[in-house]
Amino acid sequence: LDPDLGADVLAGLRDIADFPINGVVFKDFTPLLLDAALRDRIVEDTVARRRGTVDVVAGIEARGFIIGAMIAHALGVGFVPVRKEGKLPSAVHRLSYALEYGTATLEIHQDAVSNGERVLVVDDVLATGGTLAATCELIERCGASVEAIELVLEIAALEGRSKLEGQEVFSIVTV
Ligand code: PRP
Repeated sequence: LDPDLGADVLAGLRDIADFPINGVVFKDFTPLLLDAALRDRIVEDTVARRRGTVDVVAGIEARGFIIGAMIAHALGVGFVPVRKEGKLPSAVHRLSYALEYGTATLEIHQDAVSNGERVLVVDDVLATGGTLAATCELIERCGASVEAIELVLEIAALEGRSKLEGQEVFSIVTV
């Protein structure tokens, strides 16, 4: 829809060597947030694909909150935070999943989405896919369904898509 967006987003990402651990080159997307015009193009591109097809946006802590909230605002629908363990105050569904080393846990409020609602899941990056797979499972436990997943960046070598079979996954940039 915006033919130059992928290239412009890729150019806007900043490589940070040895973060969060030695040997990893981290793709920092904070420059994209600072560039108001580019940030708005990311939101508008996503909205053009999803307008009228979703009832609510779910964003994943923490960077998915930033981009997801902007997309929810532009779509005119509600926003649901999917959070790390222990942050949400009301009754939650909780799911732990394996990381390369150790585990992580995500939670969603049980009443955040209701039966039959169509949810757009938003995050910044698809890496191994564990975070998004857990998020989809939590949404389904609430009785809602994942309509699509929207990402700014996908790291193809980590094969995260293989954990998201059956889901429509769109990434603005794939590296
Ligand atoms: C990053 C990223 C995704 C997740 C992707 O979040 O924002 O949510 O990892 O990884 P995966 O596909 O391998 O599961 P992080 O855990 O760094 O949290 P943060 O946004 O709170 O820093």
